[in-house]
Amino acid sequence: MYNSALAFNPSDGTSKRFSVPVVQELASQNLHSLPQRYIRSEKERPNAFPLHQLDIPIIDMGMFLRDSDLCRQKELEKLGIACQQWGFFQALNHGIPLSLMERMRGIVRDFIQLPLEEKLKYEVHELEGYGQTFVTSDDQILDWGDTMYLTTLPPENRKMDLWPTKPVDFRETVDQYTVEIQKLGNKVLCLLSENVGLKPDCFINMCGKMAQMMRLNYYPPCPRPDLALGISPHSDGNGLTVLLQDDETMGLQICKNGQWVPVQPIPGALVINIGDMLEVISNGIYKSIEHRAVTNIDRDRVSIAMFYGPGRETEVGPAPELIDELHPCKYRRFIRADYIRHFFSGKLDGKKKIEFAKIES
Ligand code: OGA
Ligand code: NI
Repeated sequence: MYNSALAFNPSDGTSKRFSVPVVQELASQNLHSLPQRYIRSEKERPNAFPLHQLDIPIIDMGMFLRDSDLCRQKELEKLGIACQQWGFFQALNHGIPLSLMERMRGIVRDFIQLPLEEKLKYEVHELEGYGQTFVTSDDQILDWGDTMYLTTLPPENRKMDLWPTKPVDFRETVDQYTVEIQKLGNKVLCLLSENVGLKPDCFINMCGKMAQMMRLNYYPPCPRPDLALGISPHSDGNGLTVLLQDDETMGLQICKNGQWVPVQPIPGALVINIGDMLEVISNGIYKSIEHRAVTNIDRDRVSIAMFYGPGRETEVGPAPELIDELHPCKYRRFIRADYIRHFFSGKLDGKKKIEFAKIES
């Protein structure tokens, strides 16, 4: 019933393990009340504030297949505004085959349905695997969800002993999806670079050797969705994130001007958002926005987050071309691996992590 969580102490590089329940196992007990460790403080609860009735921007990626005509230009402007003002958008016609998206959902569902002892073969180890990665104390409020976290790129950094062999098509499907996400990620990075007047490959070059990570999220039905969260408010620590969510079940919410906006699933679309590294590289032009997931009482939800951005060795900092007298440098330079260590060293906590890189003004 218990599996592990791993906390990382950046000051001495050690990790400490904490035992936390597998939420799926808790949920299967037909609980009538929510266990204490999942009950959020009043102000953190999902309906502490009314929800914003807005929709995040929708970008038709098909427009970028055309050569510099007016439609392409207009869509590029829309994309730029989405990433500056929302930090999030839904991508249509993104080029990733629907069949592959379905297969990804399929392998996640198949993995979840395996017996617990099979899943625990891949228990969290050095920040990767099945379990939790942001538990840093024995009394911390926990998220109502189980995760599987794996490095997918560069290939030599894959921890293959943590890649499930069941379902049998797990590895092959993730492999194919990794390639597609890299193509789409590169495309978006080029467009975002172009949109601020830089050479299209500028952001990609600044990332150095690219890295990609995958987080599978499983949110079981929750006895009290009004008291719990599926994933705590956080910004993503990478360059950009491509999220494949359930076609029907709501869960993701983003924080827009202090209010929570639910992200309505659009069948076939992918949700793309800016992570902390792209906020730094763009010197704050693009925003990495706080988001969270809520749960549902009568249905579970699966999501697949692919994180794409600078590799561990890359020295990350704002693009010099974006800094001038009117636009002073807002972030310091640092090694990506140090940010990762910092990111995993405490619980998820809104946009706090990026303070690591901010220059005090
Ligand atoms: C994440 C994330 C949201 C969701 O994995 O970083 O924000 O809807 N997931 O599962
Ligand atoms: Ni996220």
